[in-house]
Amino acid sequence: TDESMLSSVFCEKCQRLIDVQSFALAARYYSLSNLGLCTPLEELLEALRGERQERNDIKTDEFMNNKKSHEVQVMSELVDSIASYCGIKQVIDIGSGKGYLSSFLSMHYNLKVYGIDSSNTNTQGAHERNRKLKKHWKAYERRARANLQSQKLEEMNDRPVQTEIKCESNTNEKPLNNNSNLQSQDQVTTQDSDVFTGIATSESSKQTEISLVAQTQSDENKLSENVLDILNVLPADAVDIFSSSRCNCGELCDEEKARRKMVSLQAKASKSSESNLYFPLTSYITAETELSDIITDLEDSVMVGLHTCGDLAPNTLRIFTTKPEIKAVCSVGCCYHLLSEQYENQEVIFFPFFADCTGEVWGFPMCQYLKDESWCCGRNARMSACLALERVAVGQTLPTESLFYRAVLQVIIEENYGVTKSDRHVGKIFSKSSSFLDYVRKSLKKLELDDSKLSDSCIMDYYNGYKDRMNELEAFNMLKVVLAPCIEVLILLDRLCFLKEQDNIAWSGLVKLFDPVKSPRCYGVIALKKQSCS
Ligand SMILES: C[S@@+](CC[C@H](N)C(=O)[O-])C[C@H]1O[C@@H](n2cnc3c(N)ncnc32)[C@H](O)[C@@H]1O
Repeated sequence: TDESMLSSVFCEKCQRLIDVQSFALAARYYSLSNLGLCTPLEELLEALRGERQERNDIKTDEFMNNKKSHEVQVMSELVDSIASYCGIKQVIDIGSGKGYLSSFLSMHYNLKVYGIDSSNTNTQGAHERNRKLKKHWKAYERRARANLQSQKLEEMNDRPVQTEIKCESNTNEKPLNNNSNLQSQDQVTTQDSDVFTGIATSESSKQTEISLVAQTQSDENKLSENVLDILNVLPADAVDIFSSSRCNCGELCDEEKARRKMVSLQAKASKSSESNLYFPLTSYITAETELSDIITDLEDSVMVGLHTCGDLAPNTLRIFTTKPEIKAVCSVGCCYHLLSEQYENQEVIFFPFFADCTGEVWGFPMCQYLKDESWCCGRNARMSACLALERVAVGQTLPTESLFYRAVLQVIIEENYGVTKSDRHVGKIFSKSSSFLDYVRKSLKKLELDDSKLSDSCIMDYYNGYKDRMNELEAFNMLKVVLAPCIEVLILLDRLCFLKEQDNIAWSGLVKLFDPVKSPRCYGVIALKKQSCS
């Protein structure tokens, strides 16, 4: 049983860890991959579009080391499948950042995408990047099409006999493709009743989509080979420099500019008949956000979020459940340490009911089950959940030195300033520091503590006093890394349970989308609404 497994791990009397191996085994047992709670991505894709339908394969080999390309490729393929399944052409990308996912969804999949981010700099960057991308994209497609044409002509001229055979096989191919598409339609229909009963679908739009895909498939496959290359051609930095150089005027002026741009973009969007459009917008999203205030032509949409930090992921799910226009959601969260917790820093609550009556919306817990239990994770545990076990497992090391600096700094702060808890954060000082001394001085300044009361030698005494214990710290952090997947499970299952508790959802699940070595926050929370409910 679970209890007997854990009883050997910790000492009953002192609660100390006594069996590291059992600890590691128990941690693995409670990881998402071991619990068998995930829906395999392939299964979901097949259910959405029918097993036999050809996949829009994009060669990834060239992009293996590119985290963003990997994420964008996998997620966009899934989002497109969900959108096609539901007969939807509009996507809302929450926390869209510089618009990597949004622009790809609009360019490659012809979806109309509203990307919403709280940072105006990101919105400007996304605009600029998308403008450049569009330019390159058209040129690229023209070139690729011309190459394809000349390749075909060359083949026809050079090898007439083969061409004849090819032409024949081409004419044979069409009905075959059509047949397989019809079969896949059947499969979608079958799965409509089996897997996703009641999900909003539009058969006619699916049929059109599928036959369009069939017509352009072979060309697209060739074209798409370099499509992700273009994402890399336009480094975000280039856009950053450009956009920041334009943002020299004051705050109000920027806001006014952004507002006007948004209004004019929306006007364009409502007039335009093109579907491959991407509109980066600036807005701070909360659970209460009225999407129709931001998007004037809001229609049935899929809501997506790629690495939406802290409360943005839970709020994306909340918006999905409450807004009738949002028919499906695909959310990958990150930065669990930024989640707001309902039962953190609270006195023991004997009546969770009252804690729930405050009307506040919290990042954790979301589901009623954990609320009833007054579950608390705590910031330390949530910080641990952000660690990347899979990366450590393949030999990537932990930032032991920076963690050691931070740990010794904590001792200095407690012993010399009496501070044990603070709302302030040290942040990323380590990479900007030339030495431990420099690190401590910079950190104390950031925490607004008077660093003049500590001499250099006093600071270095702390360093020398603890440096032999760095290996202990490393061992401790390894234990945290091993535990990380269990804490992530808790956070993800809370989100899934929240969705399962809703009446208007036809299907919800956790899906491992990314290779965790490339992209450690790799689980997507996916859900589709019932057709009748909204
Ligand atoms: C980790 S980044 C991911 C960006 C993008 N999705 C990507 O994958 O490249 C998270 C983004 O969410 C934005 N963000 C955070 N909280 C937000 C909120 N409440 N409303 C809108 N955007 C938010 C941030 O500005 C940031 O660009």
